[in-house]
Order: sequence, then structure tokens, then C-alpha cells
Amino acid sequence: MARKKPEPAKKQPAAAKAAPASAGKTVAVVEQAKPAVKEAEPAVKAEKPAVKKAEPTAKAEKPAAEQAKTAEKKAEKPAVKKTEPAAKAEKAAAKKAEPAVKAEAPAAKKTEPAAKAEKPAAKKAKPAAKKTKPAAKKPAPAPVNEVPAPVEEPVHPVEEAPMEQPYVSPRRSVAFIGSECHPFVKTGGLGDVMYALPRELVKQNCDVRVILPRYACIPQQYQEKMVYRGEFYMDLGLTGRSYYVGIMEYVWDGVVYDFIDNQEFFSAGNPYISLVDDIPKYCYFSKAALAALNFLNWIPDVIHCHDWQAALVPVYLRTMFQGTPVGRAKTVLTIHNLRFQGIYNIPTLKYWTGLPNEVFEMGAMKQDYEDANMLKGGLAYADRITTVSGTYAWEIQTPEYGEHLEDHLRYHSYKLRGIVNGIDYGMWNPATDPALAVNYDITNVLDHKWQNKLALQEELGLVQDQGKFVIGLISRLTNQKGLDLVNAIVPELMDGNTQVIVLGTGDKQYEDTFRYYENAYRGMFSACIQYDESRAHRIYAGADALLVPSRFEPCGLTQLNAMHYGTLPIVRETGGLKDTVEPYNIFNGDGNGFTFDRYDAGLLLDAVNRAKTEYFVNRYHWDEVVQRDMAKDVSWQNSARQYKDLYLELTPW
Ligand code: ADP
Ligand code: GLC
Repeated sequence: MARKKPEPAKKQPAAAKAAPASAGKTVAVVEQAKPAVKEAEPAVKAEKPAVKKAEPTAKAEKPAAEQAKTAEKKAEKPAVKKTEPAAKAEKAAAKKAEPAVKAEAPAAKKTEPAAKAEKPAAKKAKPAAKKTKPAAKKPAPAPVNEVPAPVEEPVHPVEEAPMEQPYVSPRRSVAFIGSECHPFVKTGGLGDVMYALPRELVKQNCDVRVILPRYACIPQQYQEKMVYRGEFYMDLGLTGRSYYVGIMEYVWDGVVYDFIDNQEFFSAGNPYISLVDDIPKYCYFSKAALAALNFLNWIPDVIHCHDWQAALVPVYLRTMFQGTPVGRAKTVLTIHNLRFQGIYNIPTLKYWTGLPNEVFEMGAMKQDYEDANMLKGGLAYADRITTVSGTYAWEIQTPEYGEHLEDHLRYHSYKLRGIVNGIDYGMWNPATDPALAVNYDITNVLDHKWQNKLALQEELGLVQDQGKFVIGLISRLTNQKGLDLVNAIVPELMDGNTQVIVLGTGDKQYEDTFRYYENAYRGMFSACIQYDESRAHRIYAGADALLVPSRFEPCGLTQLNAMHYGTLPIVRETGGLKDTVEPYNIFNGDGNGFTFDRYDAGLLLDAVNRAKTEYFVNRYHWDEVVQRDMAKDVSWQNSARQYKDLYLELTPW
């Protein structure tokens, strides 16, 4: 049978000033992670001899790896040279594009009087905003200033330039609005996306501002870095009250983070509490975010909102804010998880938003004749809707996955598309990850990964044996994640050669179930009922396989992290799992992991057993897949380009 070789590695007024908001639970989470790292240290030390033993192999491999790198470099060099003149031509093209950018400016200026007329209260705070203005403006001039010296141009014939000229996509400004963002606050993948995508967009010629609530649970180290940008008062719905809006800013790696400050809404330890608290909180937040853009006089080309917590942004924008400066922006609403929609009775939402009656019609927020649905309204008013994988974009238009919005989504399907998530290679890199016992890359994964397994086993009190098949599961413990299936097959999994590690928090029923199994299978089953970033990294590195048997999964990031760490995913073929994990084919060796389709415990067990067979019987094939997965491009680059294209489609000037 012809087997494919693994792919080569590709390259409140007073409150605002009282800045130190008390560190809440999430902070503790981040800090808790540190001792965990320390705990792991002895394990590393104990294993040192093993590491040393492996060294000669690593060293022996080095020259080969280096040779390969040199060969690659050599192969690349001429190409780089060839593109040089093109790059110059491209810069010149960028110069040509300049007037377009400038032409935009007057438009923004024209709208300024409206802002001034509208915001007498804001005026008072303006000086403060002015002080910090340069920081926000910093990223903009960069490409314009890099004017090439056209000395060599006449030397080369004209033919070269048009073919080789790389495309530089025009600059656009984008405001991200959402409820969480790593490392400030994260409960799941939304936090990862809000961190990684803006950073990648900056690389792709975008100015990005991320607007977030200033929760009290944001770690003190970040609270301290925030700079006061100003404050104003804003009315909210039919409350008859004027609410404080403070803006605290933090600029980091080219991305500007603006935190909306109001202790009345954001002083709880967790971002999400209960709908009774969360509905008013995010009605306030969405409106305050738009008002803040006007206040800062930073009018983006596109406003990119995320999930139900920011879904009212397009609704406010096309109603109350239409005639204000920010009204010229286009909107994109991304669905990260359709299960959460922000539904409450109509009178309550009218009270907190003050939105006009037409918004509460069936075509927009109204649902089931008495409720109002914030996400549904956002989907109706947004210029574009995206979700985080192509398959999920299709699935949510069916009753099985549509969460009662399938008809609404089908109606708006002309503006809906799926763009799969990536992962941040800076944050997730086994070669440099400080949380790991031993770092490794694609060239030495087979020599070093097992050392991470031994360290992990010691850290968690499992039987230390590199021959065991270790299955990890890193997840919010909720109904979405397929945990009923896992629960059903644990006794059959525990065959003496298999260990299971669960890391997660969530519904009590699942937490208790996994604690029970830990007790029942001492030394072979570990239930870490906690949120621990660095332990998650060590599980990705130390496990052989990662389980993601979700009932539905819009994208899923854990399978991407796992693949990047050479850990094979075992997933259900749904949403982004289907789009990112190609099933392993025993006949030709293709694929990235082990998959099953129907939501059925027997099929999950079958997939795990197939994985075990490859691991124990055909280790050579298994190792090929490990390397192939590490070489797979799961970065943000491609996906961010698709978002950029979408922004350009919306702003075709
Ligand atoms: P979701 O957003 O539905 O929770 P994703 O797979 O998109 O699922 O993202 C989950 C993210 O949260 C991943 O980065 C994963 O590593 C992380 N994560 C989930 N649970 C934990 C935990 N208990 N401790 C540390 N990280 C976790
Ligand atoms: C949601 C989804 C998850 C996705 C994440 C980031 O939480 O459940 O599948 O990866 O958002 O988009």
C-alpha cells in the first residue's frame, strides 16, 4: 500500500478613578496556574537523565534539520530577490492609494459637527481624550511613510513588475466589540478569538480597536496598565437615568484596547452571572461602546461584533446612532455559539434599550410573540453575519442546530458565511511554551513528547508509564461538549493501558461524574475540576490524543491546539471539527485524527478504539500523523485574510 510521507513542516465617576478594581475569580485562575507550573518542576528534574539520554538523538538530528533549513533558505532566496522590485512597485502602489484614504477624512470631518451637537457632556472630557490621541493614531501612518527610493527602477525591464507584484490589501479600521478577550478575561474560545484575530488583522493592514467591559475580575497587572481616556454620561432606555461611561485604554502590540468602565454593571467577579443581571449589562455595554467611538472621534470603517452580548450594536447603530458619526460604519456580527442568544421579555428589553417599536417586530427582535431576542435583532440589522466554520454556517440553518433561529438565518443567508478560526502561534508553540516540561518541535517531537507525558503523569498523580495511551479532554463541562457520551464509555475505556485526563469546570453533574471516575480508577483517571491555562498547555503536550465528541461545535479550538502540539484529535464530525480534522484513512495513511459522525456513545468508543489500534499496533503510522498534524497550517493568517476580504467587500472605496 502506498503511504504518503508526512508533509514537511511549513514554514462610576468616582469609581473610574478608583482604578484598582478588586481582583476577582478570573485573576485567581491565572495566578493559580503558576503554582501548577512549579508543581511540575520536580517532575522535570526527576526526568532529567531521560532528557539527557535523548540528547544525542536530538543532536544527531540537528544537522539534518539545519541542512533542511539551509536547503529551504537556498531555495527561497532567489524568489525573495525576484520579488524585491515588485515590493518597491507595491510601495509605490500603496502611495497611489493614499489619496483614497485622505479622501475619507473629510467625510469623517463632515460628520464631526453632528457629534459635537449631540454630545455636550462629552465636550467636558475632551481634553483628556486629546492627550492620549497620538497613541491611537500611531499605527496609521506606517505604510504611507515607507517611500521607496526608486533608484533601481529603470535598470530592470518593465516585464518583471506586474507578475511578481504582491497584493497589499488596502488599509481599513475595525472596532471589535465583545464580552471577553484573553488575557484580560476568558471563559472559552471567544476570548481566544478576540485576542488573536485583531493581532493578525493588524499584520494585514488594519487599525484595530477592541472594546471590552472593564470587569473587576481583570487581573490587576492589566488594570494598572490602563490609561484614563475620558468619561461622559449616557442615558439608557426608559430608565430615566444618566449612566457613567468611563474609557480606560491599553495599547499593546499594535492593538488598542478600550475598556468601558462602570462599576454598577461590571463589578461582579465573573463576566456572566445570570440573565437578570446580564441583559441590562450588555444593553448598556453595546450602547456605551458606540457612544465611546463617537466620544473618541474614532469612526471605524467596520464594527465587528461578537455573540449576543454585542448583538445590539448593529440595532442601536441603525436606529439611535444612524445620524451620528459612527452611523457610517458597516457592521459584521459573528456567531460563536448560537445556543446563547440573550432572550428576555419585551417590556424588560424596551425598558433597558429604549429602542423604537419597529425593532420589536417579528422581523427583528421579537420571538414567540412575547419575548425579545437580542441576537435575533442583531442578525437582522447587521450588514454581514459570519460564524466560525463553514459547516456550522450550514448547520445553523437546520432545525437540528438552528436553536429556533433557523428560519431567520435562512432568510438572512445571503449575508451569512463561515470563516474557520485559527490559533495564535505565539501563544501556542510547543517549541517555546514556558509551561512545558520539555520543549519540542516537528523535528524532535518523537524524542521529546513522551517526556512531557511522564511529567504530566507525575503532576497529576497518575501511574508514570510512557507506554500508556493518554487521552486528554479540555473543555467547559456543559451539555454542548458531548460529555454524556464520554460518561457512557469510561468503564470500557479503562483497560489498564489507557489513562484519561479531564480538565474543565461547568455543570455540577459532569464535575461530579468525573470526580467519581477519578476515585474509581485511581492512578489512571485524573479529574482536574478547575480552569488552569498552563495545565491545559501541559495536557496538550503530554497527551497522545484529545477527545472532542461535541454535540455541536461552531469551530472548536482545542482540536487545533492539540494538532499543533502533535496530539491526535478524536472528534465528532460536526461544525468546525468536521472542517479541521480530516478522518484518518487506514488504507492510505491520510488524515489528521479519528472521527465519528452520529451522536452515539458506541461510535465514539469505536473511534477511540481505532485510535488505540494505530497507537499500539501501527506506531509508525501514528507517528506520521503526529508530524503531519504539527505541520498543518492552523494559524490565523488565512482566516484573518478572509475577514479582511469581507471588510473590503463592505467598504469598496
Ligand atoms: P468553547 O469556546 O466552546 O469553550 P473552544 O474549543 O473554542 O470551546 O475553546 C476553548 C478554549 O478554552 C481553549 O483555548 C481551551 O484550551 C480553553 N479551556 C477550556 N477549558 C479550560 C480549562 N478548564 N482550563 C484551561 N483552559 C481551558
Ligand atoms: C464558541 C464555540 C467554539 C468556538 C469559540 C470561538 O465558544 O463553542 O466552538 O471555537 O466560540 O469561536
